[in-house]
Amino acid sequence: MDVLFAPMEGITYALYRILHARYFPGIKEYYTPFIAPDTTGSFKAKYLQELTADRKEGLCVIPQLLVNRPEPFCATADKLSALGFPEINLNIGCPSGTVFAKHKGAGMLTDLNALDQLLDKVFAHAEQTGLRISIKTRMGVQTTEEFPSILAIYCKYPLSRLIIHARAREGYYRSKPDVAGFAAAVKECPFPVSYNGNIFSPRDLAVLTAAAPETASIMVGRGLIANPALVRTLEGGTPLKAEEFSVFHDALLDAYLQNGLSHPFALERMKHLWYYMHCMFTDCKKEHKAILKARALPDYRTATALLFASGKFDAGNAFTPEEKESGD
Ligand SMILES: Cc1cc2nc3c(=O)[nH]c(=O)nc-3n(C[C@H](O)[C@H](O)[C@H](O)COP(=O)(O)O)c2cc1C
Repeated sequence: MDVLFAPMEGITYALYRILHARYFPGIKEYYTPFIAPDTTGSFKAKYLQELTADRKEGLCVIPQLLVNRPEPFCATADKLSALGFPEINLNIGCPSGTVFAKHKGAGMLTDLNALDQLLDKVFAHAEQTGLRISIKTRMGVQTTEEFPSILAIYCKYPLSRLIIHARAREGYYRSKPDVAGFAAAVKECPFPVSYNGNIFSPRDLAVLTAAAPETASIMVGRGLIANPALVRTLEGGTPLKAEEFSVFHDALLDAYLQNGLSHPFALERMKHLWYYMHCMFTDCKKEHKAILKARALPDYRTATALLFASGKFDAGNAFTPEEKESGD
């Protein structure tokens, strides 16, 4: 089973991807958090730095665009293509209110004619330039029952891959993924398909493959942030150990600092990760709180070292932060 690392804005920065690949190899492709170009296809220098950083490390990185017009898509795609990226991913899934209101991300699913027209232009451009285009989509706006009409549009075009986040926009990240809906859809697709949504453990993967045995690849986000060794675990390898988790954590923090991030910014990034990583520890409310409260680097290092050494790590934990909050 190929595993793709999901794009996660504010989390899967280039340095995260690089360190993850070094410590926990096995990811087939890393997708960047969305790049939002302006109408002329210009994008901020920070995106360029992010894109070129892990290319140097030889990772397979697919840039993702958040646009709803063909002009900025094509202009940006040309620039990325000139930088050596053979594939661009289009975000048709972002549920955020501001994005949705601009008819971008999952907002594009509110007008399927407009979506069809966009894809028509974008794929005509791709045919001329040889660029590959994949799509990451939700299964609907209100309900996943909308998906057959959405899929009928995708099936008109030569997608290099369709990544299906098996929820409607209304489900954000909380609703139960519609695995049966995914299983029905995958049979209709003339292109490679990847499943996305709530894969945290071998058990979750077994449920998916029982329902949709054709699944050849999965995209994983939060499960990999919580358990960076998840690919190894899914393949039946050694479960993550607290010690290697701690080594990875420290290496990431050091990499952020060495790359010039100020202490507050580096700590902010690390604390964001803890929203997911604390799920690997049982009964850790107090220690997690101490980590989030730490303002200075030494306090943060002490708080994290205490949790890693607490004996509360459990590689078998596999739940979302929301589930953890309601049970811990
Ligand atoms: C904090 C956060 C940031 C995200 N950023 C992006 C993004 O930039 N582009 C995108 O397509 N999806 C984004 N997603 C959605 C994830 O890629 C993924 O589809 C979602 O988390 C479900 O997969 P999972 O259950 O494996 O986490 C984000 C999700 C979260 C929680």
